Amino acid sequence: MENGEGSMMPREVPGSYGLPYLSAIRDRLDFYYNQGEDKYFESRVEKYGSTVVRINVPPGPFMARDPRVVAVLDAKSFPVLFDVTKVEKKDLFTGTYMPSTSLTGGYRVCSYLDPSEPTHAKVKQMLFSLLASRKDAFIPAFRTHFSSLFAAVESQLALSGKSDFNALNDATSFEFIGDAYFGVLPSTSEFGTTGPAKAAKWLLWQLHPLVTLGFPKILEEPLLHTFHLPPFLVSRDYKALYKYFLAAATNALDNAESLGLNREEACHNVLFATVFNSYAGLKVLLPGILARVAGAGEKFHQKLATEIRATVADAGGKVTMAALEKMELTKSAVWEALRLDPPVKYQYGRAKTDLNIESHDEVFAVKKGEMLFGYQPCATKDPRVFGATAAEFVGDRFVGEEGSKLLQYVYWSNGRETESPGVSNKQCPGKNLVVLVGRLLLVELFLRYDTFTADIGKGLLGAKVEFTAATKATSGPEA
Ligand code: HEM
Repeated sequence: MENGEGSMMPREVPGSYGLPYLSAIRDRLDFYYNQGEDKYFESRVEKYGSTVVRINVPPGPFMARDPRVVAVLDAKSFPVLFDVTKVEKKDLFTGTYMPSTSLTGGYRVCSYLDPSEPTHAKVKQMLFSLLASRKDAFIPAFRTHFSSLFAAVESQLALSGKSDFNALNDATSFEFIGDAYFGVLPSTSEFGTTGPAKAAKWLLWQLHPLVTLGFPKILEEPLLHTFHLPPFLVSRDYKALYKYFLAAATNALDNAESLGLNREEACHNVLFATVFNSYAGLKVLLPGILARVAGAGEKFHQKLATEIRATVADAGGKVTMAALEKMELTKSAVWEALRLDPPVKYQYGRAKTDLNIESHDEVFAVKKGEMLFGYQPCATKDPRVFGATAAEFVGDRFVGEEGSKLLQYVYWSNGRETESPGVSNKQCPGKNLVVLVGRLLLVELFLRYDTFTADIGKGLLGAKVEFTAATKATSGPEA
């Protein structure tokens, strides 16, 4: 449909919310148990013949006041969520519900702030400065902690023929982040090695409305999906974590004060950025990359090993930032894993004004105040952009000039991969660190091994990976 000026006339967004409460609960059951999340969205796109569609999203009653959203489910419409002139990003980091601020010291931390709120820029600047001040620590800290992890994988494989990567990663990533960000190992603090368990419990208190633990729905529905778990049950764990950050993050907190933040608010923010944004991110990211690379098979492993070993040898046997930058295939494999399995799958934004949203073929009218929602895997597996192989892992997809043109459609960081986070947008400030860590995992893996095999399953928030074999490197700098 064209209007007189050659652009399309906006139309109503198709779809239906059904009956209040009842339909939202029925949809929640479809989402978690009857269909699963991918099918939930795909079937509605099919039903209404549109990638922009009105649907309910979980958790619905009684945690979310309003489950109704306009879902944007293709590569063209999705980026409206990145445009903070069009959408407000206040209190919607976890979606249509918000966890109690008693879980974050009484503060609304950065992820819940809209860039129009003055604290947003201050906290984000503090995090940028923290990451910049520690940039030389990332590679050595990663190599130390993950070479121990792989040594543990080898002994477990020798002992029992398998090794649970997620369990090892949960402990290792926690130590790695503490070491990389603050130079203080969490395990040397008062809580010893219980940090990852405390963190996992605190994360569950915030994310339980969005997960299933594999128990019967008769238990999960009332316990996880209907009411908030009481914050006081996790306050001791949180206090122990807070104490570590108050002592370990002295430099970041001093800097926060010079930016005009109060020390306490800054510390709750550092805790959140480290434990929620970074640690929870790595719990999902690293198994996700391994699962995809495991599935790509031995021939692909050989190519990665050849690239990685040759580049490291050229750099005098050292893993440097410059060497990592030259690893085209390794970089592409990490982006491809992030494209297929973005660790944070849901994004939200509230329309600031009446808006027109464009999909590939149509324009839709949305009213001020409506909640927009993106299920990212639908957008980043859009066949109109990624072709017939959109749903497959193509390790070298982003290699070369043609390949790099597709990077603008990689959205895992809440922005295009070709754009950068800043204090006035909501793109992830950990963007460069995340791709760095993904590359380092592959480098560590293929400096040590020629190939590996693993059983892949589904975990709480992402892939579950169990190594079943690893063949030691027969050539290269570390063979
Ligand atoms: C925001 C993803 C790691 C800090 C975000 C958002 C996404 C994201 C999707 C936007 C959420 C939204 O507003 O809808 C990820 C993933 C990670 C990761 C997948 C790892 C695999 C990190 C790391 C940091 C970090 C290492 C360390 C500083 C933040 C912060 C925000 C954010 C503070 C809020 C940004 C703002 O308010 O402007 N991240 N992130 N993230 N991320 Fe990350």
